[in-house]
Amino acid sequence: MAILDIVKMGHPALRVPAPPVDDPQAPAIRQLAADMVETMHAAPGIGLAATQVGVALRLVVFYLPEGRDERGRGVPLTILANPVIEPLDNDKALGWEGCLSVPDWRGEVPRHTRIRYSGWTPDGERIERVAEGMHARVVQHECDHLDGLLYPQRMEDMSRLVHTSEWAAFMEREA
Ligand code: NI
Repeated sequence: MAILDIVKMGHPALRVPAPPVDDPQAPAIRQLAADMVETMHAAPGIGLAATQVGVALRLVVFYLPEGRDERGRGVPLTILANPVIEPLDNDKALGWEGCLSVPDWRGEVPRHTRIRYSGWTPDGERIERVAEGMHARVVQHECDHLDGLLYPQRMEDMSRLVHTSEWAAFMEREA
């Protein structure tokens, strides 16, 4: 396994819609997915898209640690090729996001609160899940990367883009 370089906002790889993975079980895809998982953990982060390591393919990895979502649940480490998202409501909720390709910033981003998503694992397993809240947010964020979108492009109020050096003071004023 290898830790890959994560490209940053401004790199052209982050701007291009990625084509589908032909064979999610191909050895090269399994290797890429394993490297992406290692890279995500090393960063550390909770999600990573192939486009962020300069590979134009529809492949994402993500997880949520136990206790991380609104109901205190986690999401197991998930590797998904060719993910598809279907919103299950018209509502969007604002929530804070960061991105390994946009280091040192956090922004408040509107996302669907409830989605169904599906895709294929490198083991040939079909995954289909209904997700809410933070789980749904992470999946929408990662899948946006596959369409060449970064979270600041989803923001509606850029005054809610906060540098990490200002984060504590910002949240104190919010409280
Ligand atoms: Ni990201």
